[in-house]
Amino acid sequence: MEMLAKAETMKVTKLKEHIGAEVTGIDLREPIDAATRQRLNDVVAEHVVMVIRGQKFTAAQYQAAAELFGELMEDQNRRYLVDGLPLVSVLSNRHKDSQGNPAKVGKNATWHTDHTNQERPPKFTMLYPVALPDKGGGTSICNMRAAYDALPEEWKQRITDMKTACSLISSARFKIANPDILRAQQESQVPPTIQPLVRTHPERGTKAIWFHKSKTERILGMEPQETQAFLDELLETAIRPQFVYVHEYKLGDMLIVDNRSAMHKAGFDYDHSQHRMLYRILVRGDRPF
Ligand SMILES: [Fe+2]
Repeated sequence: MEMLAKAETMKVTKLKEHIGAEVTGIDLREPIDAATRQRLNDVVAEHVVMVIRGQKFTAAQYQAAAELFGELMEDQNRRYLVDGLPLVSVLSNRHKDSQGNPAKVGKNATWHTDHTNQERPPKFTMLYPVALPDKGGGTSICNMRAAYDALPEEWKQRITDMKTACSLISSARFKIANPDILRAQQESQVPPTIQPLVRTHPERGTKAIWFHKSKTERILGMEPQETQAFLDELLETAIRPQFVYVHEYKLGDMLIVDNRSAMHKAGFDYDHSQHRMLYRILVRGDRPF
């Protein structure tokens, strides 16, 4: 027998003209049928970021809900994981090497997409808050498909076939990477991963600007310094307020970002004496092209 989903009560509302959708009226702890699952996946791909409100998960239930969206993958930062659930990582400003640590504030508050040094970076990044400051600490997401489409034609032509050489070693220069993973990568002498600067969405065929600046050693054919300046100029040109959605978390939010069309950044605009903790799960993606 086909399991009954909550699809009849599920409601999808657009958040901004160019980005974001909110889903209410569904409880992902309940069985979800194939059509609803497909619908949720389509909403993320169409709107770039989706928030499913009102979820009441344990970490294990959150992981089970995440599996509706594909095969999960390990976070390359292995330091802070939920006990017994190695696919659920913990982002907290109380970790001593946390980016919420006042000494490190701002270090990763730059536009990026996750794990570009890997051949198959995550297609979705999912965040679920466990503890929140009274205000601030939101996550900004930019629709990089809209940003690409709006670029002046000469910019599009210039960047469309560019390739980036990506590595964790590169992050070391910015002092944001975890020393354990850096050491592991240095020891294994992994060559940089070559990624497209403009990637094509495998389901929709759309193009999006896509990179992690501090993991980019260089754009092929450019020097490292020149690359960093070029990427800054590209973001400056491409990102416009109407393409950006800032998600201010409420408890119960399951936030899902389609990394194939998005870049995101953390917000450090909150009182750091207050606890901010999120569970992060990554869904495996394809080889970008
Ligand atoms: Fe990120």
